[in-house]
Amino acid sequence: MSFEPTVHSSTAPGKAILFGEHAVVHGQPAIAVPVTQVCAAVRVHPAADGERRFVSAATGLDLDLSDAGPDFWGAALVTALEAACGCVLGSFRLEIESSIPVAAGLGSGAAIAVAAVRALAARIGFEPDLETVSRIAYEVEKIHHGTPSGIDNTTVTWSQPVYFRRGSPVEFIRPAAAFEFVIGLTGIPSPTGRVVADVRAAHQADPVRFDRIFSQIGRLTKNARAAIENGDPAELGRLMDRNHDLLCEMTVSSGELDRLVKAAREAGAEGAKLSGGGRGGNMLALAVPGRAEILENALRSAGAAGTIRTIVEMP
Ligand code: MEV
Repeated sequence: MSFEPTVHSSTAPGKAILFGEHAVVHGQPAIAVPVTQVCAAVRVHPAADGERRFVSAATGLDLDLSDAGPDFWGAALVTALEAACGCVLGSFRLEIESSIPVAAGLGSGAAIAVAAVRALAARIGFEPDLETVSRIAYEVEKIHHGTPSGIDNTTVTWSQPVYFRRGSPVEFIRPAAAFEFVIGLTGIPSPTGRVVADVRAAHQADPVRFDRIFSQIGRLTKNARAAIENGDPAELGRLMDRNHDLLCEMTVSSGELDRLVKAAREAGAEGAKLSGGGRGGNMLALAVPGRAEILENALRSAGAAGTIRTIVEMP
Protein backbone atom coordinates (compact mmCIF):
# COMPACT_ATOMS: atom_id res chain seq x y z
CA MET A 1 0.00 0.00 0.00
CA SER A 2 1.29 3.47 -0.86
CA PHE A 3 0.98 6.50 1.44
CA GLU A 4 -0.17 9.59 -0.45
CA PRO A 5 1.47 12.88 0.61
CA THR A 6 -1.78 14.86 0.09
CA VAL A 7 -4.63 15.65 2.48
CA HIS A 8 -7.61 13.24 2.39
CA SER A 9 -11.03 14.33 3.54
CA SER A 10 -14.49 12.91 3.99
CA THR A 11 -17.85 13.93 5.47
CA ALA A 12 -20.79 12.03 6.95
CA PRO A 13 -24.30 13.18 7.96
CA GLY A 14 -26.09 13.08 11.30
CA LYS A 15 -29.03 10.75 11.91
CA ALA A 16 -32.41 10.75 13.66
CA ILE A 17 -34.39 7.75 14.88
CA LEU A 18 -38.00 7.95 13.68
CA PHE A 19 -39.27 4.79 15.39
CA GLY A 20 -38.10 1.95 17.58
CA GLU A 21 -35.25 3.37 19.69
CA HIS A 22 -34.36 1.13 22.65
CA ALA A 23 -36.67 -1.65 21.43
CA VAL A 24 -34.12 -2.10 18.59
CA VAL A 25 -31.44 -3.03 21.14
CA HIS A 26 -33.76 -5.91 22.16
CA GLY A 27 -34.31 -7.33 18.67
CA GLN A 28 -37.20 -5.20 17.37
CA PRO A 29 -37.02 -3.25 14.08
CA ALA A 30 -36.40 0.51 14.03
CA ILE A 31 -36.50 3.26 11.42
CA ALA A 32 -33.83 5.95 11.13
CA VAL A 33 -33.02 8.64 8.59
CA PRO A 34 -29.89 10.61 7.74
CA VAL A 35 -29.95 14.28 8.77
CA THR A 36 -27.92 15.91 6.02
CA GLN A 37 -28.44 19.47 7.33
CA VAL A 38 -25.60 18.73 9.78
CA CYS A 39 -22.39 16.78 9.17
CA ALA A 40 -19.00 15.71 10.47
CA ALA A 41 -15.94 16.51 8.36
CA VAL A 42 -12.57 14.80 8.77
CA ARG A 43 -9.26 15.73 7.16
CA VAL A 44 -6.23 13.45 7.34
CA HIS A 45 -2.87 15.21 6.93
CA PRO A 46 0.59 13.71 6.54
CA ALA A 47 2.48 13.78 9.87
CA ALA A 48 5.93 13.26 11.32
CA ASP A 49 7.10 9.65 11.58
CA GLY A 50 5.31 7.77 14.35
CA GLU A 51 2.69 10.48 14.98
CA ARG A 52 -0.97 9.36 14.93
CA ARG A 53 -2.82 12.35 16.25
CA PHE A 54 -6.57 13.06 16.64
CA VAL A 55 -7.48 16.74 16.87
CA SER A 56 -10.77 18.57 17.33
CA ALA A 57 -10.55 22.29 18.15
CA ALA A 58 -14.26 22.39 19.12
CA THR A 59 -14.03 19.69 21.80
CA GLY A 60 -10.41 20.30 22.84
CA LEU A 61 -9.32 16.85 21.67
CA ASP A 62 -5.58 16.69 20.88
CA LEU A 63 -4.34 13.17 21.50
CA ASP A 64 -1.65 10.96 20.00
CA LEU A 65 -2.46 7.25 19.94
CA SER A 66 0.76 6.49 21.84
CA ASP A 67 -0.71 8.44 24.82
CA ALA A 68 -4.23 6.94 24.56
CA GLY A 69 -5.66 3.90 26.28
CA PRO A 70 -7.67 1.16 24.49
CA ASP A 71 -10.88 2.94 25.61
CA PHE A 72 -10.12 5.88 23.28
CA TRP A 73 -12.46 5.59 20.28
CA GLY A 74 -9.64 6.47 17.85
CA ALA A 75 -7.66 3.42 19.04
CA ALA A 76 -10.65 1.12 18.38
CA LEU A 77 -11.08 2.69 14.93
CA VAL A 78 -7.42 2.25 13.94
CA THR A 79 -7.32 -1.34 15.20
CA ALA A 80 -10.48 -2.27 13.26
CA LEU A 81 -9.38 -0.46 10.09
CA GLU A 82 -5.92 -2.06 10.14
CA ALA A 83 -7.55 -5.48 10.59
CA ALA A 84 -9.90 -4.82 7.66
CA CYS A 85 -7.19 -3.65 5.26
CA GLY A 86 -4.51 -6.06 6.53
CA CYS A 87 -1.98 -3.23 6.73
CA VAL A 88 -0.47 -0.64 9.07
CA LEU A 89 -1.86 2.89 8.72
CA GLY A 90 1.42 4.70 9.35
CA SER A 91 1.56 8.26 10.66
CA PHE A 92 -1.21 10.85 10.29
CA ARG A 93 -2.80 13.90 11.83
CA LEU A 94 -6.61 13.57 11.77
CA GLU A 95 -8.60 16.78 12.19
CA ILE A 96 -12.32 16.78 13.01
CA GLU A 97 -14.88 19.51 12.46
CA SER A 98 -18.56 18.88 13.02
CA SER A 99 -21.81 20.80 12.92
CA ILE A 100 -23.64 17.88 14.59
CA PRO A 101 -24.48 18.79 18.20
CA VAL A 102 -22.57 16.43 20.54
CA ALA A 103 -24.54 14.08 22.85
CA ALA A 104 -27.79 15.29 21.25
CA GLY A 105 -28.93 11.90 19.88
CA LEU A 106 -28.01 12.96 16.34
CA GLY A 107 -25.26 10.41 15.70
CA SER A 108 -22.27 12.71 16.11
CA GLY A 109 -19.95 9.85 17.19
CA ALA A 110 -21.04 7.58 14.33
CA ALA A 111 -20.66 10.36 11.76
CA ILE A 112 -17.13 11.21 12.95
CA ALA A 113 -16.22 7.50 12.86
CA VAL A 114 -17.59 6.97 9.34
CA ALA A 115 -15.87 10.09 7.98
CA ALA A 116 -12.60 9.13 9.73
CA VAL A 117 -12.66 5.57 8.34
CA ARG A 118 -13.19 6.87 4.80
CA ALA A 119 -10.51 9.57 5.02
CA LEU A 120 -7.91 7.23 6.60
CA ALA A 121 -8.73 4.48 4.10
CA ALA A 122 -8.33 6.91 1.18
CA ARG A 123 -4.89 7.84 2.48
CA ILE A 124 -3.66 4.27 2.05
CA GLY A 125 -5.55 3.60 -1.18
CA PHE A 126 -7.93 1.14 0.54
CA GLU A 127 -11.54 1.16 -0.71
CA PRO A 128 -13.71 -0.50 1.96
CA ASP A 129 -17.26 -1.46 0.96
CA LEU A 130 -20.18 0.00 2.93
CA GLU A 131 -20.50 -3.08 5.18
CA THR A 132 -16.85 -2.72 6.19
CA VAL A 133 -17.14 1.03 6.89
CA SER A 134 -20.24 0.40 9.02
CA ARG A 135 -18.62 -2.53 10.86
CA ILE A 136 -15.56 -0.44 11.80
CA ALA A 137 -17.79 2.47 12.92
CA TYR A 138 -19.73 -0.03 15.05
CA GLU A 139 -16.50 -0.82 16.97
CA VAL A 140 -16.28 2.90 17.76
CA GLU A 141 -19.97 2.99 18.75
CA LYS A 142 -19.29 0.24 21.31
CA ILE A 143 -16.69 2.50 22.97
CA HIS A 144 -19.19 5.40 23.06
CA HIS A 145 -22.40 3.55 23.98
CA GLY A 146 -21.60 0.12 25.48
CA THR A 147 -24.08 -2.18 23.75
CA PRO A 148 -25.42 -0.27 20.73
CA SER A 149 -27.78 -1.89 18.23
CA GLY A 150 -25.78 -0.69 15.21
CA ILE A 151 -28.54 1.52 13.79
CA ASP A 152 -26.53 4.77 14.05
CA ASN A 153 -23.46 3.57 12.12
CA THR A 154 -25.73 1.85 9.56
CA THR A 155 -27.86 4.96 8.86
CA VAL A 156 -24.85 7.25 8.68
CA THR A 157 -22.85 4.89 6.41
CA TRP A 158 -25.66 4.32 3.86
CA SER A 159 -27.09 7.84 4.28
CA GLN A 160 -30.59 6.63 3.38
CA PRO A 161 -33.77 5.98 5.38
CA VAL A 162 -33.29 2.50 6.87
CA TYR A 163 -35.50 -0.18 8.35
CA PHE A 164 -33.02 -1.81 10.70
CA ARG A 165 -33.19 -5.03 12.65
CA ARG A 166 -30.17 -6.31 14.55
CA GLY A 167 -28.54 -9.26 12.79
CA SER A 168 -30.58 -8.85 9.56
CA PRO A 169 -29.40 -7.30 6.31
CA VAL A 170 -30.24 -3.58 6.22
CA GLU A 171 -33.45 -2.71 4.33
CA PHE A 172 -34.10 0.67 2.72
CA ILE A 173 -37.38 2.57 2.92
CA ARG A 174 -38.85 4.20 -0.18
CA PRO A 175 -41.05 7.13 0.95
CA ALA A 176 -44.02 7.64 -1.37
CA ALA A 177 -44.16 11.33 -0.42
CA ALA A 178 -41.83 13.90 1.13
CA PHE A 179 -42.20 14.12 4.93
CA GLU A 180 -40.84 17.18 6.72
CA PHE A 181 -39.66 16.76 10.30
CA VAL A 182 -38.64 19.42 12.79
CA ILE A 183 -36.07 18.28 15.33
CA GLY A 184 -36.16 20.07 18.67
CA LEU A 185 -32.96 20.03 20.74
CA THR A 186 -33.36 20.06 24.52
CA GLY A 187 -29.74 21.22 24.94
CA ILE A 188 -29.40 18.57 27.67
CA PRO A 189 -26.69 15.94 26.95
CA SER A 190 -28.23 12.53 26.24
CA PRO A 191 -26.27 9.78 28.02
CA THR A 192 -27.27 7.08 25.48
CA GLY A 193 -25.04 4.33 26.90
CA ARG A 194 -26.36 4.90 30.44
CA VAL A 195 -30.02 4.99 29.35
CA VAL A 196 -29.55 1.79 27.29
CA ALA A 197 -28.00 0.15 30.39
CA ASP A 198 -30.92 1.38 32.58
CA VAL A 199 -33.47 -0.06 30.14
CA ARG A 200 -31.56 -3.36 30.09
CA ALA A 201 -31.68 -3.47 33.92
CA ALA A 202 -35.41 -2.60 33.95
CA HIS A 203 -36.04 -5.34 31.37
CA GLN A 204 -34.20 -7.87 33.53
CA ALA A 205 -36.21 -6.79 36.58
CA ASP A 206 -39.58 -7.02 34.79
CA PRO A 207 -39.15 -9.03 31.57
CA VAL A 208 -42.88 -9.57 30.92
CA ARG A 209 -43.74 -5.87 31.03
CA PHE A 210 -40.73 -4.74 29.01
CA ASP A 211 -41.08 -7.51 26.40
CA ARG A 212 -44.67 -6.33 25.90
CA ILE A 213 -43.53 -2.71 25.43
CA PHE A 214 -40.75 -3.76 23.02
CA SER A 215 -43.07 -5.87 20.87
CA GLN A 216 -45.75 -3.14 20.79
CA ILE A 217 -43.07 -0.74 19.53
CA GLY A 218 -41.94 -3.35 16.99
CA ARG A 219 -45.50 -3.64 15.63
CA LEU A 220 -45.97 0.08 15.30
CA THR A 221 -42.55 0.43 13.63
CA LYS A 222 -43.72 -2.05 10.94
CA ASN A 223 -46.90 0.01 10.50
CA ALA A 224 -44.82 3.20 10.32
CA ARG A 225 -42.80 1.76 7.45
CA ALA A 226 -46.07 1.11 5.58
CA ALA A 227 -47.29 4.67 6.35
CA ILE A 228 -44.04 6.13 4.93
CA GLU A 229 -44.18 3.90 1.86
CA ASN A 230 -47.89 4.71 1.34
CA GLY A 231 -47.36 8.46 1.87
CA ASP A 232 -49.79 8.65 4.84
CA PRO A 233 -48.71 11.51 7.20
CA ALA A 234 -51.81 11.31 9.44
CA GLU A 235 -51.14 7.64 10.23
CA LEU A 236 -47.41 8.31 10.64
CA GLY A 237 -48.12 11.10 13.14
CA ARG A 238 -50.53 8.91 15.11
CA LEU A 239 -47.86 6.19 15.34
CA MET A 240 -45.25 8.74 16.50
CA ASP A 241 -47.54 9.81 19.35
CA ARG A 242 -48.09 6.19 20.33
CA ASN A 243 -44.35 5.45 20.19
CA HIS A 244 -43.71 8.41 22.51
CA ASP A 245 -46.25 7.05 25.03
CA LEU A 246 -44.46 3.69 25.04
CA LEU A 247 -41.07 5.41 25.50
CA CYS A 248 -42.56 7.26 28.49
CA GLU A 249 -43.69 3.91 29.89
CA MET A 250 -40.09 2.75 29.40
CA THR A 251 -39.07 5.77 31.58
CA VAL A 252 -36.69 7.23 28.98
CA SER A 253 -38.50 10.54 28.45
CA SER A 254 -37.98 13.64 30.60
CA GLY A 255 -39.84 16.81 31.60
CA GLU A 256 -38.05 18.81 28.88
CA LEU A 257 -38.78 16.24 26.15
CA ASP A 258 -42.45 15.96 27.18
CA ARG A 259 -42.79 19.75 27.15
CA LEU A 260 -41.39 20.01 23.60
CA VAL A 261 -43.55 17.11 22.38
CA LYS A 262 -46.66 18.78 23.84
CA ALA A 263 -45.74 22.17 22.31
CA ALA A 264 -45.29 20.55 18.86
CA ARG A 265 -48.68 18.82 19.07
CA GLU A 266 -50.39 22.04 20.21
CA ALA A 267 -48.78 23.86 17.26
CA GLY A 268 -50.46 21.42 14.88
CA ALA A 269 -47.81 18.72 14.29
CA GLU A 270 -49.13 15.47 12.77
CA GLY A 271 -47.30 13.71 15.61
CA ALA A 272 -44.31 14.12 17.91
CA LYS A 273 -42.00 11.93 19.96
CA LEU A 274 -38.62 11.86 21.63
CA SER A 275 -35.87 10.53 19.37
CA GLY A 276 -32.75 8.54 20.25
CA GLY A 277 -31.62 7.62 23.75
CA GLY A 278 -33.90 10.04 25.61
CA ARG A 279 -33.59 11.75 29.04
CA GLY A 280 -32.23 14.71 27.05
CA GLY A 281 -31.01 14.92 23.47
CA ASN A 282 -33.75 15.62 20.96
CA MET A 283 -37.37 15.10 19.95
CA LEU A 284 -38.93 15.29 16.53
CA ALA A 285 -42.25 16.38 15.13
CA LEU A 286 -43.87 15.69 11.76
CA ALA A 287 -44.90 18.98 10.14
CA VAL A 288 -48.02 19.55 8.09
CA PRO A 289 -46.77 20.83 4.68
CA GLY A 290 -45.98 24.56 4.87
CA ARG A 291 -46.12 24.65 8.69
CA ALA A 292 -42.56 23.67 9.68
CA GLU A 293 -41.64 27.24 10.60
CA ILE A 294 -44.63 27.50 12.95
CA LEU A 295 -43.45 24.31 14.64
CA GLU A 296 -39.91 25.64 14.96
CA ASN A 297 -41.19 28.84 16.60
CA ALA A 298 -43.42 26.86 18.98
CA LEU A 299 -40.51 24.60 19.99
CA ARG A 300 -38.21 27.57 20.62
CA SER A 301 -40.91 29.31 22.69
CA ALA A 302 -41.26 26.10 24.73
CA GLY A 303 -37.52 26.18 25.52
CA ALA A 304 -35.82 24.26 22.68
CA ALA A 305 -32.10 25.07 22.54
CA GLY A 306 -32.24 24.78 18.74
CA THR A 307 -34.24 23.29 15.88
CA ILE A 308 -33.29 21.51 12.66
CA ARG A 309 -35.63 20.95 9.71
CA THR A 310 -35.11 17.83 7.63
CA ILE A 311 -37.04 16.29 4.75
CA VAL A 312 -37.36 12.54 4.26
CA GLU A 313 -37.97 11.65 0.63
CA MET A 314 -36.94 9.27 -2.13
CA PRO A 315 -33.12 9.28 -2.24
C1 MEV B 1 -29.54 5.52 19.76
O1 MEV B 1 -29.47 6.35 18.61
C2 MEV B 1 -30.70 4.59 19.69
C3 MEV B 1 -30.81 3.58 20.82
O2 MEV B 1 -31.83 2.64 20.43
C4 MEV B 1 -29.53 2.86 21.10
C5 MEV B 1 -29.12 1.92 19.97
O3 MEV B 1 -29.92 1.51 19.15
O4 MEV B 1 -27.92 1.56 19.97
C6 MEV B 1 -31.27 4.25 22.10
